[in-house]
Amino acid sequence: MAVIGTYSSTQARLQKIYPVVVEPVSVPTDTVSRAEGERIFGFRGCLACHGKQLQGSVYLSDAALGQVIATNLTVGSGGVGRQYDDEDWVRAIRYGLRPDGTPLLFMPATEFYYLSDEDLGRVIAFIKSVPAVDNQLPASTLSLTGRAVMTLIDAITFVPAELISHHAPRPIAAFPADYPSPPNLTTRLERPLPYWDEAGFIQIMRSGITRHGRQIDPQYMPWTSYQYATDEELKSIWDYLQALPAVPYGNH
Ligand code: HEC
Repeated sequence: MAVIGTYSSTQARLQKIYPVVVEPVSVPTDTVSRAEGERIFGFRGCLACHGKQLQGSVYLSDAALGQVIATNLTVGSGGVGRQYDDEDWVRAIRYGLRPDGTPLLFMPATEFYYLSDEDLGRVIAFIKSVPAVDNQLPASTLSLTGRAVMTLIDAITFVPAELISHHAPRPIAAFPADYPSPPNLTTRLERPLPYWDEAGFIQIMRSGITRHGRQIDPQYMPWTSYQYATDEELKSIWDYLQALPAVPYGNH
């Protein structure tokens, strides 16, 4: 009975249809936007899972758990690029859903939900521009043991779509409006933090306490993680900041 219960409860989660109203994003066609999309595709980890040529790869293959395939995204045979329209790309990347509204396994849309419309459009532009790769891969399947793990271990996110609030208003690009403004880190022009030197910088990164004794809230500036950086790493970041050309405060 437990076996049947596990199967049917996971099946209900995997076949649930999320009725998301997908707001279209504009997908640029110029080469600069595509190149930026390629850069985002690399540093957000898409490339690590979907492969250098976007040809897809085996994400998980375990005799006990089952197999999960990171999809071939190209227009080649076996690739979803053949059928996907712009709305389907947004639904998958932003909401973790297939075109029929059922959830994708392990595809970390919880992270990509925060991509701005512009960046998401650039990523889609890049994906659509890559050459076709013929690569037929099997469909993702979970064994009964895999389904038991899915049921019992909440810490492993099998279905990222379950964590996304599909009907909430879209967050504003970048940070929520109530976040404090991050300071200008180019030190030479306005010198907003004139008391900074290497020791002060390392102190802030380790303790979150500025030279004026102010405690920085780790919710905004996660020094509680960065405190574990080595001296050498923090010194290199300091050297890098010193070397940056001075630019005025703002977005560009
Ligand atoms: C941790 C690995 C991982 C990362 C990182 C990742 N993906 Fe995925 N992605 C997957 C897996 C696994 C699937 C297929 C899941 C399934 O079959 O249920 C998938 C599915 C997709 C799909 C839907 C394809 C289909 O089968 O309908 C798209 C589109 C997609 N990913 C794009 C992206 C983009 C763009 C990024 C980066 C912004 C990205 N992925 C990052 C693992 C990943």
